[in-house]
Amino acid sequence: MIRIAKPPRLHGTLTVPGDKSISHRGLILAGLASGRSSLRGLSSGKDVASTQRVLRQLGVEMIPGRGGELLVLGKGAAGLKEPESVLHCGNSGTTARLMAGVLARQRFFSVLTGDASLRARPMARVVKPLREMGARIWGRQGDTKLPLAIQGGRLRGIRYELPVASAQVKTCLLFAGLGARGETEIFEPAPSRDHTERLFSWLGLPLQKEGLRIRLRPAEVPAFQLEVPGDFSSAAYFFALGALHGNAQIEIRGVNLNPTRTAFLRVLERMGARVQVSLLRQEPEPVGDVVVQSSRLRNVPVSLEEIPGMIDEIPLLAVVATQAQGTFELRGAAELRVKESDRLHAIVTQLRKMGVAIEELPDGFRGEGGAPLRGAVVNAGPDHRIAMALAVAGSVAEGETVLHGERWVAISFPEFFDLLRQIGGTAQ
Ligand code: S3P
Repeated sequence: MIRIAKPPRLHGTLTVPGDKSISHRGLILAGLASGRSSLRGLSSGKDVASTQRVLRQLGVEMIPGRGGELLVLGKGAAGLKEPESVLHCGNSGTTARLMAGVLARQRFFSVLTGDASLRARPMARVVKPLREMGARIWGRQGDTKLPLAIQGGRLRGIRYELPVASAQVKTCLLFAGLGARGETEIFEPAPSRDHTERLFSWLGLPLQKEGLRIRLRPAEVPAFQLEVPGDFSSAAYFFALGALHGNAQIEIRGVNLNPTRTAFLRVLERMGARVQVSLLRQEPEPVGDVVVQSSRLRNVPVSLEEIPGMIDEIPLLAVVATQAQGTFELRGAAELRVKESDRLHAIVTQLRKMGVAIEELPDGFRGEGGAPLRGAVVNAGPDHRIAMALAVAGSVAEGETVLHGERWVAISFPEFFDLLRQIGGTAQ
């Protein structure tokens, strides 16, 4: 449990740890590469540690270098070995889904599992297309849930239309496609985060992207050196704090500004937030510094196409919307019900405890903004993003908030409360 209160001011400059999505992808690609890769600035969260643990069980050697560098000694995709035990993905959906694509093409048997939250999450979305590629996979509850048992083997490229925009599913199929015979062709219903495509192209892998269509031919991965930029989704909590708090100026340096991730910042700017962005570099990912200052916000419509680009920031947007003037309504976010928790239900029920008018919809929420949040006893459940969204709410509310489940922030952002205190936040 942690006690949070509104501080008199929030001022300072921060860097946030490395992006979780890029960290997972970088580690897996380095594990598939032949030779020594170097990764700097990896996410310090437990989810990325789960990917490292699973890769180690598959025989990938990793050595910590100097200044936070990690050296990964890859032996090529064919160098992975059959794990002696079950591969435990912890709370990490990205680890489970991405590794399913890697394991389906191996000539050995493996089992993926996870914690209670991950074992409840849908896996048919990867099982179905991998089976079409020729994989032999079985799972609990009619092959829809972890544990998944995978007897890897030869795969063939397929043409597949994703039923939902999901970067995890897309990436699973691209990892499988790297080791399949023939071409893999994927169509997305809407653009989801494109870190995998950017990394593949940067590494010279034969990937082509035209609009929502991606084509990939099989290839070996070369060793590489990657510097992981700051995680936009972690920085987003501080962007929201900067805009919502009446006496705030917060700068986040070196944050990833990939346009498939930054919809939350665009919506915040449309709401009237005072934001300054300075772009530092573009390759392989856009990176920049962002300053956000106290702002007067009004609610604005959010279109369905914007949802995938802010999928992890929607609980945070709910907090922001309650504090902006006017009515708000967000739809098209039913995917939130199958994240680490049912995030629509979680954020609406907890914000209501803080005295604001917000109503749960089957695929979103709506309400009336502009009434102050009041401190309350709230519970994040087993969900890191709900914990951080509620910490933001508590930091702008009148009176004290007692937040249970705060330890879950360690999944993606263990440094969250330390950085909050560093800029003047009250959390003890
Ligand atoms: C992720 C994709 C998103 C996101 C998750 C990380 C990724 O999930 O919610 O936190 O790294 O590919 P979906 O692809 O299932 O929407």
